[in-house]
Amino acid sequence: MAESYDLSVIVPTFNEEKNIAAMIGAIDAVFRESGIRGEILVVDDDSNDHTIGIVREIAGKADNVRLIVRSEDHGLSQSVVEGFGAARSDILLVIDADFSHPPKLIPRFYEAIRGGADIAVGSRYTKGGAIEEWPVARRVMSLGATAFGRILFPEVSDPVSGFFAVRREVVSGAPLEPRGYKILMEVLGRGRWDSFTEIPFVFRDREEGESKLQAGTVIDYLRQCAGIVRFSITRRAGPVSDELTRPLRFGLVGLSGILVNMGILYALTEVFGLYYLVSAAIAIELSIVNNFVWNDVWTFKSAGDLKFERNLHRFGSFQAVSTAGLVVNMGILYLLADVAGVYYLAANLAGILIAFAWNYTANRRYTWRGA
Ligand code: GDD
Ligand code: MN
Repeated sequence: MAESYDLSVIVPTFNEEKNIAAMIGAIDAVFRESGIRGEILVVDDDSNDHTIGIVREIAGKADNVRLIVRSEDHGLSQSVVEGFGAARSDILLVIDADFSHPPKLIPRFYEAIRGGADIAVGSRYTKGGAIEEWPVARRVMSLGATAFGRILFPEVSDPVSGFFAVRREVVSGAPLEPRGYKILMEVLGRGRWDSFTEIPFVFRDREEGESKLQAGTVIDYLRQCAGIVRFSITRRAGPVSDELTRPLRFGLVGLSGILVNMGILYALTEVFGLYYLVSAAIAIELSIVNNFVWNDVWTFKSAGDLKFERNLHRFGSFQAVSTAGLVVNMGILYLLADVAGVYYLAANLAGILIAFAWNYTANRRYTWRGA
């Protein structure tokens, strides 16, 4: 190997002609100031603006800048993984091209990995982190995705961050299945790592362009979560997979609750002739009881705890979380549909998912704390 580098900075791009030259300049300036021998790898998905020409010219002059132009299997995650494979150092860092992630923090990621962490995650949701200038709909969607991701990785505050560094061994040979936007989830879910650290940062929105968030993005994301859960169940054993299958069981119990709810609503209204709203209120309450029992004996396995007071206490906690979950669901539906103008069925889906994340996380943390 002719050159050897301390750090490889991977910059995925698609149509970044307005940012990429400045971004490369900024990263290189950080290298020089900090004394890091770094390379810059631009992984482009065959942009149809001038990005490729611009980077090609810079790469011709600077020997620590390389360009990879991809022509197949378009995608941000796929591009990052290709960057991992092409990198020439043992510490890999990923950063957006549009200055949403501040390049001046690069040395902190580098030092974190050198200091022993396997993964360093740039976090918007830890103390000192923040998001600037995002419209309410984008914030809510992102918070939802993050909350959902935290079900799988409770200790990581921003598991969908696009700003992170990893030691090469974490990803080399790991069975990554990159798709969609959230490559970090994949690295956390299928990479080989023990320790991680978080670095707070302030996310700034790009000057122009809009979020490419669509229904397809949400579905991609859910499929990715499902894939990670499946992987954990089949490849790992012990407490890790137990922790990861819990949300699955919790979700199945939720489905059983819907069936109970519908059955009771039907029976009370049609057979016993109650007014349907009265039936509905009873049906909701009984489905909460149903869900509590199954989660208690199955999802979190606290059966055998016969002490009445403790069972009552858990039930009270579950009831409170469920009630708050209903409010979260309705609140998000209202916020997205009425305030942000999102189609109401999409808004409701977001509401359901975020309420699910809330219900799971809060119950895990409070109701079944010791489980
Ligand atoms: N190669 C490649 N292929 N690059 C892409 C593609 C693609 O299909 N789509 C986007 N990019 C590049 C952009 O050029 C930019 O450098 C970076 O990936 C992020 O794309 P944005 O479109 O600016 O993403 P964002 O601002 O909506 O999302 C950010 O926040 C997410 C967390 O909420 C990114 O940081 C994501 O990485 C992050 O997961
Ligand atoms: Mn961006």
